[in-house]
Amino acid sequence: MNRAALPDQASTQAVAFDQLFWTMVGFSVLIVLLVGALIFVFSLRFRARTGVPRKSVAVLESRRVEIFWTAATAFFAVFFFWYTSTVTLDTVEAPPDAMEYHVEAKQWMWKTRHPSGVREINAMHVPTGRPVTVFLNSQDVIHSFFVPAFRIKKDVVPGRTSTVWFEATKPGTYPLFCTEYCGTNHAVMTGEVTVMTPADYAAWLETRAEGETLAATGARLFTEAGCSGCHAEASQVHAPDLSGLFGRDRPLANGDIVTADTAYIRDAILLPERDIAAGFEPIMPNFTGILEDGEVEALVAYIRTLGQEGLGQ
Ligand code: CUA
Repeated sequence: MNRAALPDQASTQAVAFDQLFWTMVGFSVLIVLLVGALIFVFSLRFRARTGVPRKSVAVLESRRVEIFWTAATAFFAVFFFWYTSTVTLDTVEAPPDAMEYHVEAKQWMWKTRHPSGVREINAMHVPTGRPVTVFLNSQDVIHSFFVPAFRIKKDVVPGRTSTVWFEATKPGTYPLFCTEYCGTNHAVMTGEVTVMTPADYAAWLETRAEGETLAATGARLFTEAGCSGCHAEASQVHAPDLSGLFGRDRPLANGDIVTADTAYIRDAILLPERDIAAGFEPIMPNFTGILEDGEVEALVAYIRTLGQEGLGQ
């Protein structure tokens, strides 16, 4: 702990957020001092003196003062809106070269899958100096992924994939908390994020059993669950080709245009009758209750990799 009981500063966002925080604190202190000093001066200067007859209330009218303080207040309001939204929006969109971690929240643990497929429970090892995007899914109720040392917090909502990203700067071990009440053992739903230098991280990965990457699990399911029967290139069924799909705009049968993002692909698997792609029959079977927890995320991860290959061509 340093800096007046704030948690460690271990990510690029932590630095930006702390600067914002201290700027706000400094500005607030200035305003408090200014108002306090004015109250003090005015109460001395305009106090009721003994023996002096009370005058009528003095009226000070100054258009200049009026315009000045209105403009100054408006300026600072806009400035802080701009400053806060810039810092906050920076946490939304990850750099495109970010490493991809998948974290599943369930009562009451965090299950992490590395880009290499290595898995951990209630732990997450990351290298310094690389942006990391965390794809968050919940198997049951709403949880919230909070790493104070990185100044990031994101709700994990069942039925949708949320993402949050960070770039760790300082090796060390930092606590991970669940900050959404999620049942009896919410309080013990904690973990540790271990930040290592890139060399240490590579050495650590070597000691771990190779796992299947989420996209590889998805590729296997794509065949096993029967998706490839219609969506493979050689298929006789008239079904959309999924390569190059991810991130593109898709025309729908009802005339709408949607972007094929994680939410769209997830819905296409679980609620296929809702958004029919233009030019196709609504023949896609509904996979709600057929695919297990985590399998939809794996399929979405696989279809995302198809999209990236497609975009790269
Ligand atoms: Cu999970 Cu609280």
